[in-house]
Amino acid sequence: MTVTALIVAAGSGTRMGGDVPKQFRRIGGKTVLAHAFDALASHPRVTSVRVIVAPDQLELAREALAGRDCGELIVGGADRADSVRAGLDAVAEGIVLVHDAARPFCPPEVVDRLLDALRQGDGAVPVLPLADTLARGRGRLDAMVERSGMLRVQTPQAFHAEDLRYAMDEAGGAAATDESSVMVAAGLKVLTVEGDPSLEKLTTDADWRRAEALQAAQMI
Ligand code: C5P
Repeated sequence: MTVTALIVAAGSGTRMGGDVPKQFRRIGGKTVLAHAFDALASHPRVTSVRVIVAPDQLELAREALAGRDCGELIVGGADRADSVRAGLDAVAEGIVLVHDAARPFCPPEVVDRLLDALRQGDGAVPVLPLADTLARGRGRLDAMVERSGMLRVQTPQAFHAEDLRYAMDEAGGAAATDESSVMVAAGLKVLTVEGDPSLEKLTTDADWRRAEALQAAQMI
């Protein structure tokens, strides 16, 4: 069965500052998008990698991926679900690994764990436990949230293309922060595998500094 990685890179992603979206900023001379691409493309069980980009970022993406076998770039949409849908439309069947471009490092063992777990479920996602106390509130604590059993869900996320298509149809375009959310909402069985700290999404300046340090230490 084919395994197609879909890297969603169509976000504007400038929250951390800088004049280009975070997926086109560089870590150790290589763009974040190229790091994510190379991590998946080099995996022996990944058949191909397709990249979804915003219409006004096609040129940036072509430059970032120069020399790589990425096929036609796919044009994404206004929100994440539109971008994933565009990627899914380009994939006829098989397994898809949906991955955020904003997560430059993906250890190969995580992909192995996901593909192995997918044999028993409709989907598989990497997760990490929470270390901090959890609460609701703004400015003051309104309520504490029981932490046990809570998980942080990362990407890549593995699904059978037809299951994800079904779940996204059921969601009817409702906003979701990831695809496991729509799979669970559709009543499908999404299994968890051990995630990895290096898979953290680049969101804050501190994330960025951590990613640069990881790369400089050749830990990825
Ligand atoms: O903004 P956030 O960090 O949650 O985005 C997660 C991933 O989804 C990023 O890799 C971003 O490029 C992608 N995305 C997308 N299309 C959008 C919005 C986000 O491909 N319209």
